[in-house]
Amino acid sequence: MKSGIVYLAVFLLILVIIKGQDHGLLTYVERRITSIEDRITQFHDQSGIYSSELRDFKKHILTMVENYEKDKEELRSELLNANARIERLEREVDYLESQNPVTPCLEVDDKVVERKAKKVQKKRNEKYDKITDCRDMISHIKSMKILKKMKTSTGLWTKDPLANSDKVYIFSGTANDTLYEFASIRDFSVSSHNRKAVSITLPYPWKGTGHVVYGGFLYYIKEGTEFHIIKFDLKNHTVTDSAVFPAEEQIPAYSLSPFNYIDLAADEEGLWAIFATKENEQNLCLAKMDPKTLDVEQMWDTPCRRENAESAFVACGILYVVYNTRLPSRSRIQCAFDVSDSLTPEEVPLIYFPKRYGSHSSMKYNPKEKYISAWDEGYQIIYRLVMKSKLVV
Ligand SMILES: *[C@@H]1O[C@H](CO)[C@@H](O)[C@H](O)[C@H]1NC(C)=O
Ligand SMILES: *[C@@H]1O[C@H](CO)[C@@H](O)[C@H](O)[C@H]1NC(C)=O
Repeated sequence: MKSGIVYLAVFLLILVIIKGQDHGLLTYVERRITSIEDRITQFHDQSGIYSSELRDFKKHILTMVENYEKDKEELRSELLNANARIERLEREVDYLESQNPVTPCLEVDDKVVERKAKKVQKKRNEKYDKITDCRDMISHIKSMKILKKMKTSTGLWTKDPLANSDKVYIFSGTANDTLYEFASIRDFSVSSHNRKAVSITLPYPWKGTGHVVYGGFLYYIKEGTEFHIIKFDLKNHTVTDSAVFPAEEQIPAYSLSPFNYIDLAADEEGLWAIFATKENEQNLCLAKMDPKTLDVEQMWDTPCRRENAESAFVACGILYVVYNTRLPSRSRIQCAFDVSDSLTPEEVPLIYFPKRYGSHSSMKYNPKEKYISAWDEGYQIIYRLVMKSKLVV
């Protein structure tokens, strides 16, 4: 449009010259034209500035986008790299842990906790004199054998370590009034139902997986608000004895298996109870029990934590606590507590279990056959152990 005006002005100028008009008008027209030209120049300059600014901006954006794409690629390859490195590290850590066990927590006798008087006064946190000459600790897991897979993900299978028979006892689930007795491990592993089993209905329902069969008796945890331990004669199916467990304000022993308030265990030394109370809610407590009378003979506060524990067992007077994480990884023995000796931390093994399906809802040590009978997400498993002497360095 502006150029149209220029033409018009030039045309007018020519017209004026041709018409020979006076000098004043000519000067006026010239001035007008000059001013229009000035404005046109200004406009050109400005639009030039604008367009070059726009070009610069576009260039800037393009380099930004390019850089961003480049960064994204770099970030992606860095992430892949980091991932690979983490995986390698994990493998290395696993390897190192299996080669030279790191220091698990360990009880040292000088840290005896003073406690206020309890309802039942028991020997607490004292050294324990072994009644057997068992001086072994677990060296490693030799093998893992799956006997069977049952529908219930939680439960307990066990044998009587003192009996000469091969009978197997099954507690399916975490609460019921019935248990099953198979004549042998073979019968148990080949039968698809409980048809081959003798079913035993108890006078009081059981709760959790903390029961043991020991010397012809079943010691089981009765369902209810107080923690009764019932001693049940498996020969003539009668209750022989019962006792309220002498601990106050009990809480679930293992954070990953909250159905167990008391976990009974049998080993070379006899009968034990693993439990936890509100008073010492971070850590597990251990009690030695008299299988004849159900009396608690002695109690210990262990340094083993409840958090992320899924199970525990006692072997040769040492409590082994098995840990895992809420998102399942591999189960491992990561805390050991020796009631009679102070093992040096280097001697306490960190032992990984070979495989894991879900969570070990029960683990029972068999002192006669040196294996752990375990129930992991419906699988009934035997972990055979290799023991070594604590005295040999
Ligand atoms: C025991 O378990 C069976 C199934 O295995 C179930 O039918 C029964 O109701 C349970 N009994 C109790 C008392 O929980
Ligand atoms: C069951 O057997 C034990 C010994 O094994 C005996 O002392 C008890 O009296 C018996 N109980 C009944 C009800 O027969």
